[in-house]
Amino acid sequence: MSKIEIRNHPKYSNVFISGPQERLRLYTKNLIEGKRVYGEKLISYKGIEYREWDPYRSKIAALILENPLTNLFSDNLSCLYLGASSGTTISHLSDIIHSGIIYGVEFAERSMRQLIQNSSKRQNIIPILADARFPENYAKYIFTSVDLIYQDVAQPRQAEIALENCKYYLKDDGMLIIAIKSQSIDSIKKSERVYAEEKRILEKAGLNIVESVNIHKYAANHIVLIVKKGTI
Ligand SMILES: C[S@@+](CC[C@H](N)C(=O)[O-])C[C@H]1O[C@@H](n2cnc3c(N)ncnc32)[C@H](O)[C@@H]1O
Repeated sequence: MSKIEIRNHPKYSNVFISGPQERLRLYTKNLIEGKRVYGEKLISYKGIEYREWDPYRSKIAALILENPLTNLFSDNLSCLYLGASSGTTISHLSDIIHSGIIYGVEFAERSMRQLIQNSSKRQNIIPILADARFPENYAKYIFTSVDLIYQDVAQPRQAEIALENCKYYLKDDGMLIIAIKSQSIDSIKKSERVYAEEKRILEKAGLNIVESVNIHKYAANHIVLIVKKGTI
């Protein structure tokens, strides 16, 4: 019997926490009971199974621990996830957005095979083998515009890729969350200069950067931007 006491996160829907404020642990309710995705801890509390969410393996978990002001989730969002890899973070989003839908785009075949295995029982994940640089190529799989685009592709031209996908798929009142890895864009320029340049590209295209959150504590050389399309 676990001694861990799990409670609702005070701010983000369907995210759960344990422990004191300075050492919070994060959890999501396991949509597929008994199944782990990446070796995470499963914890039963008051008859409900939770999966521990590791901020060193997931930049959205790191973002949440940095406590952004924006309300990030609700039960039934539609989401386009660019850079789904083998399924670590997307599986937690699938727990959170349990009545919504997540299109998971990944271009590496090996990761895609693992993603398909890891998400086969999760009916709200649609894995798509495609290159996020060419959003027109997956239009046939995505039936409506989405509420949320999350991008974590570790590529050069991260802002441009996000912009293209927003143009195709993001609702006018939708939100973009983008993890920017400075080393993937330019390994010589100082991180701060790379971040400033990526922000400038997004703003020049008319997007509003609502929050810029440094997650260096959990992922070296990364920030996460929370971005809205229209004026707020
Ligand atoms: C940092 S990993 C993503 C980790 C994942 N978001 C998670 O937290 O579970 C980056 C992923 O983006 C994928 N990727 C990179 N460029 C891509 C592109 N142009 N289109 C689709 N996937 C891409 C890589 O293959 C890799 O799996």
